[in-house]
Amino acid sequence: SVYRATTTAPVNIAVIKYWGKRDTTLNLPTNSSLSVTLSQRSLRTLTTASCSAAYPPADTLNLNGSPQDIQSSKRTIACISNLRALRKALEDADSSLPKLSAHPLRIVSENNFPTAAGLASSAAGFAALVRAVADLYELPQSPKELSRIARQGSGSACRSLMGGYVAWRTGELADGSDSLAEEVAPASHWPEMRALVLVVSAEKKDVPSTEGMQTTVATSALFAERAQNVVPERMSAIETAIKYRNFHDFAEITMRDSNTFHATCLDSWPPIFYMNDVSRAAVRLVHDINRVVGRTVCAYTFDAGPNAVIYYEDKDSEIVAGTVKAILGPNTEGWDGVFYERLANVT
Ligand code: DP6
Repeated sequence: SVYRATTTAPVNIAVIKYWGKRDTTLNLPTNSSLSVTLSQRSLRTLTTASCSAAYPPADTLNLNGSPQDIQSSKRTIACISNLRALRKALEDADSSLPKLSAHPLRIVSENNFPTAAGLASSAAGFAALVRAVADLYELPQSPKELSRIARQGSGSACRSLMGGYVAWRTGELADGSDSLAEEVAPASHWPEMRALVLVVSAEKKDVPSTEGMQTTVATSALFAERAQNVVPERMSAIETAIKYRNFHDFAEITMRDSNTFHATCLDSWPPIFYMNDVSRAAVRLVHDINRVVGRTVCAYTFDAGPNAVIYYEDKDSEIVAGTVKAILGPNTEGWDGVFYERLANVT
């Protein structure tokens, strides 16, 4: 017989960025981070995990229709072997359970957005992989406990197992057992929050984030300052802003942290550039909108690429989304697509 489980996982966009590892094997971060999980309307990964004694002996992974070489991906192996060990422990404790841990796994995964667009596809991808295999194995572990496994696939993936506002605590232990994601507030806590994802059309060969952060850790003095002195204060300040639904503070901290993160990239040697002229046009536009309206109605953030994510509240959608779309929207030079997203509740 074939055992099967299917799941989806959303993308998350950090407002306090994860950048830098203190342990590259366990994938432990230098600083805590905080993100917002987006709804799965336009951006999500759909994954089916199955296993059977009748499958050919090796585990397989198919991504967007192409077979992947699992053996060359330490991260995928780490996730699968951790999940299999948890299943094995269940089977050892209860001999009536089918021995699924001994069966080859078949994982099929598909994004509903262009993987090349430079959106946080690894976050949704590894979160969906971990969730699907955990469901297949009927593991009792909570999303917080599973985040320890997803983190080893891709750091940002640990935050996609939960909805709403999610913090990834850096932790202190050398074995990483306290480096976990936890929900700070559900999406329903601040139902007005919206995200506008602006995709830059020019396909850029960015420095992959894993490689970029190693260069930054090794060469930037500003990086250490950010991790030790800047992020801890921002983490508590943004958690307070979320608690009281204070958009002004949420927005300012988000924009400043995106800017500081990109400053550490520029301070790396050789320097790393993720934002381009089109990205900078979005930064200027957000500041212009806030100045003209006379209060903070929108905030930008940029990951390891030129795409912009703009946060705003639904009551300001006309002024924010309307203006952004008119000035930077699709069919305007430099931008390829716009996705409007609410926040997601993931259970
Ligand atoms: C800029 O999670 O892709 O998006 O752990 O090496 O897979 P690895 O890195 P990854 O880095 C994401 C970096 C970021 C900021 C963030 O999402 O917090």
